[in-house]
Amino acid sequence: MKLIKLFFVSALLISQPLIAQEKIPAESIRPKMQWFQDAKLGIFIHWGIYAVNGVDESWSFYNKLISYDDYMKQLNGFTASKYNPSDWADLIQQSGAKYAVMTTKHHDGVALWGTKQDHFNVVRNTPAKRDLLAPLFSALRERKLKVGTYFSLIDWSRNDYDQFKKDSVRYKLKDQLARWKQFQQFFQSQIQEISDLYNPDLFWFDGDWEHNAEEWESVKVRNNILAKNPNAIINGRLAGYGDYVTPEQNIPVTKPAYNWWELCMTINNNWGFQFRDTNWKKPNEIITLFADVIGNGGNLLLDIGPKEDGTIPKEQRDVLIELGKWNRKHDRAVFETVAGIPKGHFYGPTTISKDSTSLYLFLQAQTSGPIMIKGLVNKIKDIKVVGSETALPHKVVGKISWSPVPGLVFVDVPRSELDPYMTVLELKLEGPVKLYVGHGGFN
Ligand code: GLC
Repeated sequence: MKLIKLFFVSALLISQPLIAQEKIPAESIRPKMQWFQDAKLGIFIHWGIYAVNGVDESWSFYNKLISYDDYMKQLNGFTASKYNPSDWADLIQQSGAKYAVMTTKHHDGVALWGTKQDHFNVVRNTPAKRDLLAPLFSALRERKLKVGTYFSLIDWSRNDYDQFKKDSVRYKLKDQLARWKQFQQFFQSQIQEISDLYNPDLFWFDGDWEHNAEEWESVKVRNNILAKNPNAIINGRLAGYGDYVTPEQNIPVTKPAYNWWELCMTINNNWGFQFRDTNWKKPNEIITLFADVIGNGGNLLLDIGPKEDGTIPKEQRDVLIELGKWNRKHDRAVFETVAGIPKGHFYGPTTISKDSTSLYLFLQAQTSGPIMIKGLVNKIKDIKVVGSETALPHKVVGKISWSPVPGLVFVDVPRSELDPYMTVLELKLEGPVKLYVGHGGFN
């Protein structure tokens, strides 16, 4: 035998880079991030006065598609008259999600709780007349779901906030520092209220792009939150001081170099409820992209937008219910797993059990016939179709008896075993996943 260069790697080692977010070392937060990493799926809820006319949340007046006054008139039509928080929590639980993130205040400044600050809120300024957050958070907690609070740092309705609409600025910070300081006091107090009233498991900030970390007092925000609850998780929109990153709408093509990330995505084209938007994503599309996200080590935060009266449109419910059925059938391949093996070994997303001895293959589209796995060093104990638990035989092709380079594994998946959305195979391995990543025998 000539000199053979062999490259074997353990999948777990290469899937754990050490970046949390810009300013926060991953090792310092790893323990508190565990539930989040196991959760895989969260439901995002955008609920606010924008659902009354079905316009873009806050952006409609910012972008001058509607006047500010007309936008704020929606306060009068926001009733929450059919709001049923336990029904919401049931639906979220049924989807398989392990947490929910609810808007407490969007960029329009309208708080969904009775804030003590002198500013818009649904208790004082809308016919809803009550705190809409507390009952949902207790319904979620009763079902052992984690609670997340979306909070917009931007508040375009505050007179002491510098920005208002596109191309119209109220003032420049350097000219009126006292005015900005007053705004800082205001948002710090609102964040403190949320923390004291609801003690969220996850703080989901938004809008950091309008100012820097110093102007947002990111360090103070972070420290205050952690003083009350050292295990609270903070998303990455705090100008570098969050725990994980939040790509929006666009799915990463390859595995991001972060330990924790979460793709937030709308269920149609918009975050809030809009009458005209009927471009619903299909369960098949959601499940396919969800598998891709978890295979790359991320979470999916799938958004719903309830109507002003608190009903969740049927189209949104249907997607969540279908997703939930698929999740229940494939539970062990999805939840509490880790990112899969690197691309190239298998044409599709994969996940790995925590002990690294089960490899899950997510079959794209309606793939049957012989599927192929390359560079798997382990012996396979058995292969099953997840859900039906049907055992499948496999064949190893091209293995040279005297060479340590593994052969190709072929598995025939009968059409009768295919899931209507996405079929998953479980490969039980002898020992933790071990991969060969070299380029073959002699050179
Ligand atoms: C954006 C938008 C906002 C939306 C959010 C959700 O930052 O400003 O309207 O709530 O994304 O991720």
